Amino acid sequence: MLQAVTARTNQSYNSYQSNQKEPLFLKQQNSSLIAVYSKTAELMQEIFASGDELFDVEKLRHCVEEIIEVSQCDQIFPLFLGFISLNYSTYEHSTNVAFLSAILGQKLSFELDKMRGLVFAALTHDLGKLHIDAAILDKPTLLEEDEFEQVKMHSRYGTQILIRNGVDDLSILHGVLYHHERLDGSGYPEGLKGRRIPKYARIIGMCDVFDALTTRRTFRRNYSSFEALIYMKRELLSQLDRELVNVFITLHRRSHHETYR
Ligand SMILES: [Fe+2]
Repeated sequence: MLQAVTARTNQSYNSYQSNQKEPLFLKQQNSSLIAVYSKTAELMQEIFASGDELFDVEKLRHCVEEIIEVSQCDQIFPLFLGFISLNYSTYEHSTNVAFLSAILGQKLSFELDKMRGLVFAALTHDLGKLHIDAAILDKPTLLEEDEFEQVKMHSRYGTQILIRNGVDDLSILHGVLYHHERLDGSGYPEGLKGRRIPKYARIIGMCDVFDALTTRRTFRRNYSSFEALIYMKRELLSQLDRELVNVFITLHRRSHHETYR
């Protein structure tokens, strides 16, 4: 399994690398980043493939520490966009959202404890999909209303799974439970509005949207990171945290003014 993940990321990385003349220190940072990404994706793949809701929490915490460590690099955002998987499997999506949340957390100068909570919640935000029928999750077309109602349960299921694994940090549990809430109250499960949506959930929700837009789906092509941010700014600003979207845009502007995905 690891080989599959590594091969894919290396393939993307090699094509990225051949187009770039980057300094040695960036190459070294990129290698560490890819290693941590592959390891995290492999762990998430194991968890989702096992179908078992009990998992090794310590292993996950270890990945969280490594993600925080590599996300301290100044050039993390363009490096990350350079090799990130464009596929939308739940385990790759979870990994992407964890890295994106870590990048945002660093940019917001979160202290270490807050970073740990945020990245842990981001990595586990879709765990509840373990209890959703795979035929619905993998459906190549848009979902029917009743199917979408089932999918909507995943944020509650995910919170329950974390509690069963001994996670009792309320900020993490709320980050997972509310990651589909939207500022205008159009989200789920409770239709919370504005600042009533916890910060972790607002960050994870935004990274979730960004990754969903920039990965390939059977019913549409993937947006470039630039297109995704434009779309978020123009169409989704009533739903997403304006301040966070602007932080994302600033990060993107600083990314050599180039788009890698
Ligand atoms: Fe989700």
